[in-house]
Amino acid sequence: MTFTLGEGNTPLVEAPRLSAELGVRLHLKLELLNPTGSFKDRGMVVAVGRAAERGVHTVVCASTGNTAASAAAYAARAGLRAVVLTPKGATAGAKRSQVRAVGGRVVEIDGTFDDALRCCRELAEQDGFALVNSLNPDRIEGQATLVPEVVAQLGAVPDVIALPYGGGGNSSAIAAGIERAGLATTLLAGEAAERPTTFASAIRIGDPAHAANIARLRETERLEVVTLSEDELRSSWRSLAHGEGIFCEPASAAGIAALRRSPRDDALVVCVITGHGLKDADAVPDDETPAVAPTVAAILEAIA
Ligand code: F0G
Repeated sequence: MTFTLGEGNTPLVEAPRLSAELGVRLHLKLELLNPTGSFKDRGMVVAVGRAAERGVHTVVCASTGNTAASAAAYAARAGLRAVVLTPKGATAGAKRSQVRAVGGRVVEIDGTFDDALRCCRELAEQDGFALVNSLNPDRIEGQATLVPEVVAQLGAVPDVIALPYGGGGNSSAIAAGIERAGLATTLLAGEAAERPTTFASAIRIGDPAHAANIARLRETERLEVVTLSEDELRSSWRSLAHGEGIFCEPASAAGIAALRRSPRDDALVVCVITGHGLKDADAVPDDETPAVAPTVAAILEAIA
């Protein structure tokens, strides 16, 4: 039987309001609809599947939450143990619940994501352990499958793929997919200016693991990085939700925010919407839901 939880083949939908606002032909690649609610599943199925074939008993990762949720789900499916290291107090609770729900072990590290990743690399040197962060080339290979999938869905080659830049694994994977297919598509990557503390908790990463590759891609002009303020991230997140009906987690709006800052006249653009809004629902502002008497008059007054 094939090892899959049904990852990939996510919808590609038009974004009419944002297209009009930004002067581009924008499509949203809804990676938030993968089995664990993020783009990580595409690469994790390959990494965990191959780790199981090699006979490991434990997969390990450092994570701001989504890699963790994905690793734990695929490990459960493969019959392996998952151990995930998260920076203490800095990840969304729903993502840690996702890990525990499928039997994974969450260990909070008293430090940053970068500390967690360092520990994880050391842990992975133990016998029977496998690292499933995006430093594992199997993850990159799996995530690169987005490129041919998008071209098939569009029936055309996109001019630009816009996406968030945290550790840079996904940008590296998609750049590899573009290169392999010999496409002229360029990447537009949005990173948080306030990397270690941004409200977009999925990309709270001070020191990107793939920084050297990102620098190489920038030199060849195949990738542009735009550094975004908290306000820019927040307003693009709101535009996706209010204007297009797409409830993603805050980090996922970084591609749209980057596009706002670096406009591409009439270009065919695909923006990768990386993670589901329900994973970080506490990020939604609480507008004090009114409680009123059970009468139409009271309800009309409350919504006026
Ligand atoms: N969007 C979401 C929802 C993410 O969870 C991540 C990374 C990114 C974008 C950035 O992708 O790191 O490949 O540049 N999340 C990792 C994690 C760090 O642990 O789940 P990147």
